[in-house]
Amino acid sequence: MRVLSGIQPSGALHIGNYFAMMKRMIEYQENHELFCFIVNYHALTTVKDADFLRRNTLEACVDFLALGIDPEKSYFYVQSDVPEVTELTWILSNITEMGLLKRAHSYKDKVAKGIEANHGLFAYPVLMAADILLYGADLVPVGKDQKQHVEMTRDIAQKFNSNFGEVFVLPEPAIEGDLAIIPGIDGQKMSKSYNNTLDIFTEKNELKKKVMSIVTDAKAIEEPKNPDTCNLFAIYTLFLDGQGKQELKERYLKPGLKYGEVKKELLEVIWNYFEPFREKREQLLADTDYVHDVMLAGAKKARSVAVEYLEKARAAVGLNY
Ligand code: TRP
Repeated sequence: MRVLSGIQPSGALHIGNYFAMMKRMIEYQENHELFCFIVNYHALTTVKDADFLRRNTLEACVDFLALGIDPEKSYFYVQSDVPEVTELTWILSNITEMGLLKRAHSYKDKVAKGIEANHGLFAYPVLMAADILLYGADLVPVGKDQKQHVEMTRDIAQKFNSNFGEVFVLPEPAIEGDLAIIPGIDGQKMSKSYNNTLDIFTEKNELKKKVMSIVTDAKAIEEPKNPDTCNLFAIYTLFLDGQGKQELKERYLKPGLKYGEVKKELLEVIWNYFEPFREKREQLLADTDYVHDVMLAGAKKARSVAVEYLEKARAAVGLNY
């Protein structure tokens, strides 16, 4: 089974990225054929600062490697190192209806927020479809907000196959119940664009500031608290097993819980959780030549799969005169 997913290098990676995507990908590499990549072409739809894009792309590679992605066990690469994906995007564009793209939630949300839409943003789902179809992926682990994009990929693949013959695999989205939406410090979905993230690799003081500003309700210390509506609880339990979660829940339900104390504990929990990866990350940041070599080797491996699908697609539509 081929599992594939990508992540945007549009800022420092945060614990929402980690639990919704990175951790799962690192687990998948053990018993699946895993394609994991940094989607810098997608980031171009919103990032207009070249240095920022370069730095965040490299750091995303470094973070993944530090956290345990193994380039020997997986296909780990940067999207733009396999430029075949843009050619497939063009081929797919010609069977993708405007109506389908106009219905994309993510596009509509961005426009509603006042982001000025460019063609890249509108065509984003076609590039994502190409990302997936170029490698014959069966399963695509994504957050809930990306489910529609995977469904659009299926629609596009289906249409291609029925027009031109069976070329593409129809992928399934994989969304893990609990991890579907991870709240940020203000309770909205954790996202760089809401400025509510807890970053994986950050200075401890920075992390402390963020953790201490997690929004909670105004219940008095003597009152019992509601774990089900508390984003401090939701974030904390990402780091707990079933028993730990149960124990925290009981503390919430008894009078006397101080949110400030829970936050201090959580700070240590997060810090210790990522501790084993910090040194590796520093080493990688000090040897970016090595990181580049790893990424180029990953792209080469990915490309060998990509060219086969692309050749079939070119031939199916008649580009092989
Ligand atoms: N759109 C995804 C996101 O923002 C990133 C992405 C790009 C992706 N291409 C992909 C995810 C292919 C899965 C498969 O989260």
